[in-house]
Amino acid sequence: MDFKKYITIVEDYPKEGIRFKDITTLMQDGEAYRAAINEMAEFAKEKKADVIVGPEARGFVVGCPIAYALGAGFVPVRKPGKLPREVISQDYGLEYGKDQLTLHVDSIQKGQRVVIADDLLATGGTIEATIKMVEQLGGEVVGVAFMIELTYLEGRNRLKEYDLFSLMSYS
Ligand code: PRP
Repeated sequence: MDFKKYITIVEDYPKEGIRFKDITTLMQDGEAYRAAINEMAEFAKEKKADVIVGPEARGFVVGCPIAYALGAGFVPVRKPGKLPREVISQDYGLEYGKDQLTLHVDSIQKGQRVVIADDLLATGGTIEATIKMVEQLGGEVVGVAFMIELTYLEGRNRLKEYDLFSLMSYS
């Protein structure tokens, strides 16, 4: 399937010079959404993932259906103040801004095989921070999967040690 046909490019959003890749037009098409998730789920299945980890908010839209398809668990990575129990946290830099991510301390068991899923790989900051937290808890990151990779931001370079899958890439 030509997935790019379902992505809408929004010029100058959220600020000038950024060409935002809007996945909502893919998600609102049942066939395209299912086909996209199925391909990502196939990757996670090959990696024998026990758990899918997804960063808020668009990582939920991608990670939850993958977990459901596999019968694997889903673990949310959230921005500060959103998870109710004890967390570990990690600072990270975004393509446009800076923030912190958190993960429940009991969400990953030692030795669990983890695939991290998100809608987009830009600078790789979000995923790098997520990987650090998963590894801190003893999880084994067996793969990272994205709907979209922005190759010109070279996020892949920060993830060299990991098996990386992306459904679409923009250069
Ligand atoms: C976006 C996107 C990725 C991240 C990619 O999330 O969904 O998670 O940025 O950027 P990076 O590779 O440079 O880290 P955002 O933080 O905007 O949150 P949202 O999904 O809640 O909109």
